[in-house]
Amino acid sequence: MSQTITLLPGDGIGPEITRATVRVLDALDLGLSWEEAPAGHGAFEATGDPLPVATLEAIRRNGVALKGPLTTPVGQGFRSVNVRIRKELDLYANVRPIRTRAIQGFSPRFENVNLVVVRENTEGLYSGLEHMVVEGVAESLKIVTEAASRRIGEFAFALATREGRRSVTAVHKANIMKISDGLFLRSVRAVAERFPDMAYDEVIVDAMCMRLVLHPERFDVLVMGNLYGDIMSDLAAGLIGGLGLAPSGNLGESTAVFEAVHGTAPDIAGQGVANPTALMLSGVLMLRYLGHDDAATRMEAAIDAALAGDVRTGDLGGTAGTQAYADAVIAALDAG
Ligand SMILES: NC(=O)c1ccc[n+]([C@@H]2O[C@H](COP(=O)([O-])OP(=O)(O)OC[C@H]3O[C@@H](n4cnc5c(N)ncnc54)[C@H](O)[C@@H]3O)[C@@H](O)[C@H]2O)c1
Repeated sequence: MSQTITLLPGDGIGPEITRATVRVLDALDLGLSWEEAPAGHGAFEATGDPLPVATLEAIRRNGVALKGPLTTPVGQGFRSVNVRIRKELDLYANVRPIRTRAIQGFSPRFENVNLVVVRENTEGLYSGLEHMVVEGVAESLKIVTEAASRRIGEFAFALATREGRRSVTAVHKANIMKISDGLFLRSVRAVAERFPDMAYDEVIVDAMCMRLVLHPERFDVLVMGNLYGDIMSDLAAGLIGGLGLAPSGNLGESTAVFEAVHGTAPDIAGQGVANPTALMLSGVLMLRYLGHDDAATRMEAAIDAALAGDVRTGDLGGTAGTQAYADAVIAALDAG
């Protein structure tokens, strides 16, 4: 069955890494077709809207999108388009698998990391409800609902069960935010009680940061609110070699958007040197979501083969450009 995917090339390195990823996905010959749609700073310059209605409609219509990173102005300007996409489409679960990969000539800080950050994606401190109370005093509202907390808890336990994982850890700050994080924790705990065969524990977010940089191999599925998940997943990406290697999926009931964890990398944009691995691995997650399990396994194996070879991008100590690396992944597909 042919599947149309909405493609958001995005800003900065987005067009370079989406091109590399689409080339690999096309090489799998699955009959995927692409409907390109604007979003981000480029769309804002062209249309005055960083998230045109037609783009949202295209994602809804096709049910699945592959997305490059989008610029979010800091401290001013338009609201985060990423946050808007996730809220508008109710993409409530942000899944960020972090796994050590064997890379020639490159030693990550840890050899044996294999965890998944499951981040609540629609509320918390990213609700966008903030204002100046009076001059010199700003207020930001953190919204936590029982329904969303339970839903993300159920998602985390279902994922852990499906993937045969050992444990789920809820990450929180309920010692200080007793009401909001307390509600999150109670909701996840209630879900945990329905999964007696899955190990479950709870760790305060600051302690979690320390434990993760000391012993990441001890953790499996981590479930947490929006802000903690955003920060923790970048930290976790650093454990395995950096942002160039960390994929993600934003999942709702009937719509999904796959993207790298990293941003637009303005410092290297336009130079053709960005590492497209994170977006390619997001493509692997997308194929699994679409039920193309064999193709996903082939693509992931080709990425691993390329990483184990001698064509590497600069962030991993190599000298290859983005498209030369994509060539190596395609060659590994052909050889596999
Ligand atoms: N999902 C998204 O669209 C998303 C996510 C995070 C940040 N952003 C946006 O991206 C912009 C830049 O943010 P930032 O600089 O804080 O973070 P960033 O992730 O863009 O870059 C951080 C560092 O990592 C490097 N890096 C990132 N991706 C890389 C890749 N694929 N290959 C090689 N090196 C890579 C960059 O060169 C930079 O040194 C901001 O506007 C921010 O809002 C968007």
